[in-house]
Amino acid sequence: MATERTPVAILGAGPAGLLLSHLLHLNGIESILVEARDREYVQARVRAGVVEHGAADILRQAGVGERMDREGLRHGGIELRFDGAGHRIAMSDLTGRHITVYGQQEIVHDLAERRIADGGDVRFACGPAAIHGVDSAEPSVTYAVDGVEHRIVADFVVACDGAHGAGRPAMGESLTTFEKVYPFAWLGILAHAAPRVDELVYANHERGFALYSMRSPSVTRLYLQVPSTDRLEDWSDERIWDELAVRFSLDGEPWEPTRGEIFERSLAPLRSYVGEPMQRGRLFLAGDAAHTVPPTGAKGMNLAIRDVDLLARALTEQIRSGAEEGLRTYTDRALRAVWRAEYFSWWMTTMLHRFDDDSGFDRRVQTAQLRSVVGSEAHATALSENYVG
Ligand code: FAD
Ligand code: PHB
Repeated sequence: MATERTPVAILGAGPAGLLLSHLLHLNGIESILVEARDREYVQARVRAGVVEHGAADILRQAGVGERMDREGLRHGGIELRFDGAGHRIAMSDLTGRHITVYGQQEIVHDLAERRIADGGDVRFACGPAAIHGVDSAEPSVTYAVDGVEHRIVADFVVACDGAHGAGRPAMGESLTTFEKVYPFAWLGILAHAAPRVDELVYANHERGFALYSMRSPSVTRLYLQVPSTDRLEDWSDERIWDELAVRFSLDGEPWEPTRGEIFERSLAPLRSYVGEPMQRGRLFLAGDAAHTVPPTGAKGMNLAIRDVDLLARALTEQIRSGAEEGLRTYTDRALRAVWRAEYFSWWMTTMLHRFDDDSGFDRRVQTAQLRSVVGSEAHATALSENYVG
């Protein structure tokens, strides 16, 4: 088995892993990144769309925000639609900050291209890598390609390998988990259609939640809350569009998104998860490997970016000068932002979705909650500050 050495071995070429390897490179620290899937697959995986203000700044400062600033859509507000009426939350007026609507796969594309242009060691299509010896001074990562085993011995291993990677199991018994599973999923589509709205619309309707988002002036992104037992085959194009029109109703009348060819569709279950701590020995977890949020708060990728921003600094200090403080306090510092995002995402999810066991009382309280959010500057500001980030 070929054995190589590197200061930092990274698993996963999502936003977290790619950005971490780029930030370390900017600080003069080399790493090896191992990704299970091929580059085309990773760059085509459609997920997040909202980049919060602070996360966009991190990308910009790292010199990878140029295309985001050119092609991303800058939004200063969102609409909450309920009881047949729309209410704008003027986020930029309330906070002086804005969000950028820019697809996660574009960020992954920009980062991968930059890593490769910089000569970074990013290895795609390695199959699932395994993590060993995290409590020892020589942790390692192994993977096999075409029957050939590879072993990377590192000073530090960082698992940026998402919710189903090797990072969570490698934490072993040191991990305490906190979890909530919602009884519904989001059916998401991308369509070749000009968005009918300029800003995102979060709709609460008695048949369930719907979200109007976008990717460009000619591509619409839409989501429907569906039972977690539904399959994609249950939803014909016609049924999707009809249901969207009902859930976005205004003044009791169906309100149609502009229709177009649906060219991508997927189902995403909704769950909240935090594993504590985010480190064990010489292993560190970042992004979805350490936590999951339901997408209603648009926080998952943003947290992943914030985690690796912290981690890149802490690893740099440790490797350059032996200063241990940053790595030692990584979990505590990261978890503060994580739990804030967990709270906000849970709050948005429960306020906007339909729960099967909702009583008439629950429904009326939900509407009262929405009214108080749009009717009070203090509430709207709190929502905006959390959302804009
Ligand atoms: P991932 O993107 O999951 O990357 C992990 C990588 O690790 C993958 O490439 C995987 O192939 C690889 N991998 C797995 N196991 C191994 C292994 N053993 N060895 C090597 N490689 C491995 N977030 C937002 O901030 N804003 C939004 O608007 C938003 N909208 C969303 C909408 C939907 C429908 C969904 C599903 C998510 C949304 N999110 C959003 C969340 C966001 O997509 C995730 O939080 C984000 O992908 C996390 O990035 P990551 O790099 O931590 O993990
Ligand atoms: C998206 O555009 O994909 C999107 C927007 C807002 C969310 C989640 C996803 O809360």
